[in-house]
Amino acid sequence: MAEQRPRLTSSSLSTAASTLAEMRRRDEGRDDGVRLKKKVGLVSGVALIVGTMIGSGIFVSPTDVAVGGGSVGFTLILWIICGVISMCGAMAYAELGTMINKSGAEYSYLLEAFGPLHSTVGSIPAFLMVWTNTMLLKPASVAIIMLTFAKYAMEPFYDQCSASDGAQKCLAALGIIILTMVNCLSVRLATGLQNVLTGAKLIAVVIIVIACFVKLGQGSTAYLSSGFSGTNANIGQIAIGLYKGMWAYDGWNNLNYVTEELSNPYVNLPRALMIGIPVVTLCYLLINISYFTVMSVTELVHSPAVAVTWSNRALGVVSWIIPLSIVCSTFGAANGTLFSTGRLSYVAGREGHMIELLSMIHVRKFTPMPSLILTALLSLLYVIPGDISSLINFFSFAVWFFYGGTMAALLVLRYTQPDLTRPFKVPVVIPIIVLVIAVFLVIVPIATGPSLGYLFAFLFIISGFIFYIPFVHFEKYPAFMRE
Ligand code: ARG
Repeated sequence: MAEQRPRLTSSSLSTAASTLAEMRRRDEGRDDGVRLKKKVGLVSGVALIVGTMIGSGIFVSPTDVAVGGGSVGFTLILWIICGVISMCGAMAYAELGTMINKSGAEYSYLLEAFGPLHSTVGSIPAFLMVWTNTMLLKPASVAIIMLTFAKYAMEPFYDQCSASDGAQKCLAALGIIILTMVNCLSVRLATGLQNVLTGAKLIAVVIIVIACFVKLGQGSTAYLSSGFSGTNANIGQIAIGLYKGMWAYDGWNNLNYVTEELSNPYVNLPRALMIGIPVVTLCYLLINISYFTVMSVTELVHSPAVAVTWSNRALGVVSWIIPLSIVCSTFGAANGTLFSTGRLSYVAGREGHMIELLSMIHVRKFTPMPSLILTALLSLLYVIPGDISSLINFFSFAVWFFYGGTMAALLVLRYTQPDLTRPFKVPVVIPIIVLVIAVFLVIVPIATGPSLGYLFAFLFIISGFIFYIPFVHFEKYPAFMRE
């Protein structure tokens, strides 16, 4: 007898809220409404942060950070600065996350600071954040990560030249389609894949770090000892270097997306951030030192795939292990990003800020199919014109716009709601510093190297207004978007 297949119709989809409630009732044998389970402890919290941060960036960004730095010394300092900026941002997020115990990170904080739903002006920042995340940031990150995947997957097969852009894009597109199918089919398959791929990513990091110590022990310090000679003073290039470095660190805010599921969040959120981010900073620093044990700044800047050049020189016959681990690492990072798309849609859907279709999950497979499919289609779109470098600039511009907005939210809340309990209160200078850095990161690249990409990203954010008025303010959804 033919198996009856669930179809993607409104009858086989349900809002995430009602389906999650149903799952929970079944699980716990009681009816206590919609509440996410507190399943994430300290270790998984750290893993969630580290696992999202380490992805593609450490394998593609070193080139641009080195262009920004100009010298070995300043390049390493730029990597440390990026780590410190992430740490400051994360401390501010720890205050927000322990004060406002809701998942959804920036979205929930902007909503709390600037106004509730249906106070039109007040809820616009939060809506624009969800809009930009769903339509631009999530799909653009998947596209960047999968283009990096394709680059490293093909590099070992081309000896003297690189694979053509077209071939890399086709492979990236194929990867996106496969990952979307996996995520639509089964949550267990997606999380299982994630665990295996995270293991592979850690193998790559550990090998590069161990090789760093071995090379240093063997006295390979010729390039490192060039110190600060050649240091760059071009502020525009430095800002772009920081953009690229910050891409490698992006994901430091990931745990704030799931605070409702974190056990003892008042202790575990700050602790996980304070363990996870320094660990990643140290790994990135050692990986870069490792690169500099076998190549100069100039060689690094001109290497088509820096980790492949490194592994050929440092690992010899077993050099294939690095591109393979990077392929797994990037595949895992894209899988994790796709996996988390449903969560933001769910939180925003709960507040009425997301068209209902996108906050629905499949009733039998429990996967957020509509939002996955939308993310996949947009990712494919961004792969078509995209080269990795300009996509990262495009991403960073939009993401720092909202990180800056979130710092402003923290400052506003200090003023408007001074009596809210703040279990983890940071010195006020920290959000101010991050806000200034966010303004710098948004403005300087535009001022020093204006490109249509930034204008497009800005128009994209603003275009959310057009959807806000009919869909949220007046709640006039077309019939197919209603349940
Ligand atoms: N840092 C990651 C990488 O280097 C990218 C993270 C993208 N952001 C996110 N929230 N998933 O690939």
